Amino acid sequence: MKKVLAVLLSVLLAFSFAGCQSKPKTKEVKIGVAMYQFNDNFMTLYRQDIQKYFDELNAKDSSVHYTVEIVDGANDVNTQTEQVRTFISKGVDALIVNLVQTTSDALAKEIVNSGIPCVFINREIADFAYGDKTCYVGADARDSGTYQGQLIYNVPNHGDINGDGKVSYIMIMGDPENTDAQYRTEFSVKYLTDNGVTVEELFKQTGNWDQAQGQELVANALGSFGNQIEVVFCNNDGMALGAYEAIKAAGRTVGKDIYLVGVDALPEVCQMVKEGTITGTVLNDDVGQANTCCDTVLGLLAGKAPEKKVNYVPYVMITPENVDQYLK
Ligand code: GAL
Repeated sequence: MKKVLAVLLSVLLAFSFAGCQSKPKTKEVKIGVAMYQFNDNFMTLYRQDIQKYFDELNAKDSSVHYTVEIVDGANDVNTQTEQVRTFISKGVDALIVNLVQTTSDALAKEIVNSGIPCVFINREIADFAYGDKTCYVGADARDSGTYQGQLIYNVPNHGDINGDGKVSYIMIMGDPENTDAQYRTEFSVKYLTDNGVTVEELFKQTGNWDQAQGQELVANALGSFGNQIEVVFCNNDGMALGAYEAIKAAGRTVGKDIYLVGVDALPEVCQMVKEGTITGTVLNDDVGQANTCCDTVLGLLAGKAPEKKVNYVPYVMITPENVDQYLK
């Protein structure tokens, strides 16, 4: 009897040991993601891409589990500051931060001083002193503006539909505090003037990246300037979608009596490029940026200093000729 018990016990021990071996303990990694606001077409895609990246890692490798908490800053500096402080006091392992405000570096400094690895995304603070554990991933907005100018330069008569020797345009801007809005506004027109095109600005207002505001502004501009408007530059596709509705409501036709360009290459806008209902857009590579950001987070978590303090993912000009590659 004693012998039987001893054998049973050793079998049980062997099993439990094998059990321990086949199931190593999962390492928990917490990542806090602070978005400037959820109500933004492009940043919604970006946020989903970040979540997907870590979901895929979790599915592939059970030895590490990433818990990703994504919060909505609701475009309010105080809300975002509280959210980031909560992440810091909870002791998250890494942060991804899409700042509400880039005209002040107060929150960014607080993050650097916390010692928590952080990748800032999408909204760049000019000349910021990143420590060893923080960096920025984004895109060079000058290029997106240049591509918008090029899209217009490439249409018949460079966009001078009425042949009066100048291209009369309206500019619908994103949040004017963002370098994206500033550079796209400047470099789109610069491409035309650098290439000898005479331009006339009829109207320039901010629609804060928002579709409804874009629609309202373009409707107002069309009401005031009517057929004088030959080109509508929108700093992003969200506002271009709104602009398109206003253009349609005014009985105008894109590609025939008016031109319209945006930036982001949202899936619905790529479809419009294919159909010819928008002149063109510029790919703001949300997947490329999200992957670069998350790869960098993993590097920082492994103790590696970021290779680049400011890492730009390229933009791509989207035309009817190449849009098929970008339709999702
Ligand atoms: C830009 C993007 C806009 C908006 C903005 C938010 O890069 O083109 O659509 O998302 O970021 O800061």
